[in-house]
Amino acid sequence: MGEMLSESCATQAIARIISNQQLTATIFRIEIESPEIAATVRPGQFLMVRPQAGNDPLLGRPLALYDIQADSCGQPHSFSLVYQVFGRGTARLSQMKPGEELRVWGPLGHPFNAEPAATDIWFVAGGIGYTPFLALGKWWLGRSAFGGKILSPDQNRKIEFIYGARSASVLPPLDEFLEAGMTVSLCTDDGSRGHPGRVTDLMTHRLDKVADFIPDLIVACGPEPMLAAVSRWADSHSVRCLVSLENQMACGFGACFSCVAPIRQVDGSVDLRRVCIEGPIFDGRQVAWH
Ligand code: FES
Repeated sequence: MGEMLSESCATQAIARIISNQQLTATIFRIEIESPEIAATVRPGQFLMVRPQAGNDPLLGRPLALYDIQADSCGQPHSFSLVYQVFGRGTARLSQMKPGEELRVWGPLGHPFNAEPAATDIWFVAGGIGYTPFLALGKWWLGRSAFGGKILSPDQNRKIEFIYGARSASVLPPLDEFLEAGMTVSLCTDDGSRGHPGRVTDLMTHRLDKVADFIPDLIVACGPEPMLAAVSRWADSHSVRCLVSLENQMACGFGACFSCVAPIRQVDGSVDLRRVCIEGPIFDGRQVAWH
């Protein structure tokens, strides 16, 4: 689970767009100027963003932190988010230009812990679920500081990023994951790039290739059926698995209950919990998958 941060860390700001770059037919990367948020946000957290101009009653869109950027003095200056266009809000966002302003609220949600007790780690993602893993990999490999915290990680730590997509044609660029020191393994449903099949097929294939290898920790983000499959796979191989849930969110601060997920309690009962304030990261075994 992520560590508890005080809610006072969240800032509401009007922030300027530095760039808004198209990565694939539907995926964009937006860089937003905000030294305050860039200095405090940690991997695993998200920001609510909405266009500032106009009267369109759009709800904010919750977007996971992708990375932060520093100014010429090395101080945190801006943050970037990667989003997929799938509705009116994200379509409007994709049309916004550098210099225009957004209303931004965050960081929200609990971040990942600074230091995992793990050496061999798999990040497993599907679709747009890859976005939290660049920052997390940089942090856990000691390549970047987040929230003012630079780590001196276990020198033997290895992170493999296992990423599944429908087809090669929808894969976003992943060079930064390699530059951050992660190994990247791909699979596609149609076999047009990487291993043919689902991420769990590739995970099984990886174990078959290296005798006696088993990761210490799996962190997964993506569509719920994929998360359920990865979580069950991890359980059956006795590997700890954290999942970052992508539930829809309207408010982002616990007021609307649009984001609830069924979470198993210590007494075995299942209760609906708000992903925006109690997550988005949960132990995979805690989630009562459908
Ligand atoms: Fe409103 Fe979670 S998004 S309660």
